[in-house]
Order: sequence, then C-alpha cells, then structure tokens
Amino acid sequence: MTTATVTSTCRSFTSEAASETYTTGLKNAHALEQQAMQLMQRQLERYEHYPEVSQRLQQHIAETEQQIARLEELMHGLGADRSVLKDWATSIMGNLAAIGHSIMPDEILKNHFANHAFENFEIASYESLIAMAEATGKSGHVPALRKTLDEEQRMATWLREQTPAITLRYMQLYEQGRKADR
Ligand SMILES: [Fe+2]
Repeated sequence: MTTATVTSTCRSFTSEAASETYTTGLKNAHALEQQAMQLMQRQLERYEHYPEVSQRLQQHIAETEQQIARLEELMHGLGADRSVLKDWATSIMGNLAAIGHSIMPDEILKNHFANHAFENFEIASYESLIAMAEATGKSGHVPALRKTLDEEQRMATWLREQTPAITLRYMQLYEQGRKADR
C-alpha cells in the first residue's frame, strides 16, 4: 500500500486544457443559473398560498441576477465572447426543469423538491469552480465565486428547513378542499 497522498490543494495546472476546463465550468454555471431563473420565475405566481416561499424566491431571483452578472464578468475577463454564452447548451438541467413545468395537483411539492435539488447542484458546481480557479492560478476569481456559493448555501438551507411546513400547508389546503397547488 502506498503512503503517497495527493491533496487537491497542492496541485496547480498551467496547461491550455486546464484553462479550458475552467472556462467550460463557468459557462455551465451560467447556463445553470439561467435555467434556475426561468424555473423560479415560472413558479412565482403559483405560490399564492405560500407567501413566505414566494418572497424568498423573489429574493433569490434578485440574487441570481447578480450571480449571472458575476459569472459574465469572470468570463469576460478570460476573453469569452458574450455571444458564445447565448449559444451554450441549456439542457444540463432539463429533467429538473421539466419537473418545474408539471401541473400535477402536488405541483407545489414537486417544485419545492426541484428547487432544493437545483440549489444543491449549484453548490456542487461552485465548489468545483472554486477548486478549478485556485488550481489554474485564477485565485482572483475566488471571492466572487464564494459570494455566490454562500448565497446558494443559504437558499438550500432555507428550502430544506421549509420542507415540513410546506408539506403540512399543502396537506391542510388539500384537506379543506381548497386549491392547494398554488
Ligand atoms: Fe441558486
């Protein structure tokens, strides 16, 4: 058994390929945020009976706008053309986004689960970007990425903590024969 250990913190990459990996990661995050934005905007009007959720979503939509702007600034600094971003495939989160389209009676719960999944996907993606930025000598990018990561973590935690309350509200509305899916 070997005693050699490799830690991610002591690796640095200087190749063109490594930079490309990072740029691709930024583009993916950009596409992901745009999808998250669409998903949240579509849901807003459906949370009539869940005002806290609607309010928090609105706040996160505003945060997401800033996150997108931050990513664009980082990519611009790397020489990425803005038009490239528009063409970038936005199908990464297709399945989760499709859940957001659902109009089943328990849509509100499914949307909530999808939002929770989305935030956790985003968290993993920013943790990965931070590791890439550090390893490719772009440590100047880290504060912006970390700011976004903090926002995603706060949102994910908030959503997770709301799960029981949203579920019980849904059950209550359903039991009362009211429209619970909004
Ligand atoms: Fe987010």
